[in-house]
Amino acid sequence: MGRFVRGADREPDGEGPVWVRRTVSGRTRSDLEQAVKESRTVLESVCVVGLGTVGGPTARYFARHGFPTYGCDINPQAAEGLGDTLLQSSTSLAELPLADLFIVTVDTGFRGDEPITANVFRACEAIRARGTPKLVSIESTVPVGTCRRVHQEVFGRRQRLVHVPHRWWAEDEARHGVGQTRVVGGVDEESVRLAVEFYAWAGIPLVPLSDIRVAELCKAAENTDRYLQIAYAELLKMICDENRLDFEELRRGMNTKWNVEVLEARDGIGGTCLPKDILYVKAAAPEVCHLLDGARSVDKIYREHLGK
Ligand SMILES: NC(=O)c1ccc[n+]([C@@H]2O[C@H](COP(=O)([O-])OP(=O)(O)OC[C@H]3O[C@@H](n4cnc5c(N)ncnc54)[C@H](O)[C@@H]3O)[C@@H](O)[C@H]2O)c1
Repeated sequence: MGRFVRGADREPDGEGPVWVRRTVSGRTRSDLEQAVKESRTVLESVCVVGLGTVGGPTARYFARHGFPTYGCDINPQAAEGLGDTLLQSSTSLAELPLADLFIVTVDTGFRGDEPITANVFRACEAIRARGTPKLVSIESTVPVGTCRRVHQEVFGRRQRLVHVPHRWWAEDEARHGVGQTRVVGGVDEESVRLAVEFYAWAGIPLVPLSDIRVAELCKAAENTDRYLQIAYAELLKMICDENRLDFEELRRGMNTKWNVEVLEARDGIGGTCLPKDILYVKAAAPEVCHLLDGARSVDKIYREHLGK
């Protein structure tokens, strides 16, 4: 009797985990019971749902590290885009095997100031219709409370589920890609344990947080921290321009102080993540977020200032 498990040991060259066959014959009864218990929880295959900017590299990462990996995207071009990298990809989860771990990397957004998370709910509904995997990991950025709602409203609380918000950064994938340290929160301790164990096998260190909502806020608040720093640089630049002072000289001077780091003022706060994530933080307690409203106004005025 034996089973395939992903070995915790790594090849000396550090090329990721290796598949090993471990026999459980000849062990004591409690060893066997433990082995059977483990074989129910160990995660051996992955399906990434949403194969876009973040999901594509995520699926490639797990496939490259030797995990049987599947992928799903409602956009046929994204589903086909990974070619032979994956064992199988499809526009429908119904056409794919029930993997042990489903990773959700679909897009989230906002309309006006309101967060839009419909794609996360749709993706999780498709997972629930496919079966009950050992673990679901939501890696998309979501507002506080979303994962608990998904757990209750989509899965009826009968699904192990974690939130491992992605910190992926396109400009430095080697250091800030899929393998970087991330936080994890779960609906229960066992979900977090499974996630920490699995991601560690894949070479991704996870930092457990006690509440899944803290993990949600953590991601959005990290980007909001950056937004505020940039907005402050933009504000100082406009103050300098109004007073015919040299912003770069001010910045150099301020940055000689041990606890100050004024950023550059470039061409406004662009991209999708920062403008979205500041709204996700605001959505958690809009009545106390005047600072965030102020930073968003500064960025708007700064862009107009640049266009003068
Ligand atoms: N792009 C980044 O740099 C970055 C960094 C960190 C976190 N994030 C977060 O990661 C998430 C994904 O962002 P992205 O930039 O990869 O988005 P993206 O638009 O590039 O990709 C999302 C993919 O999900 C697919 N999709 C949508 N609904 C689906 C469904 N129900 N089933 C299957 N596929 C579905 C879309 O067709 C698309 O291909 C977002 O929450 C984003 O905030 C992005």
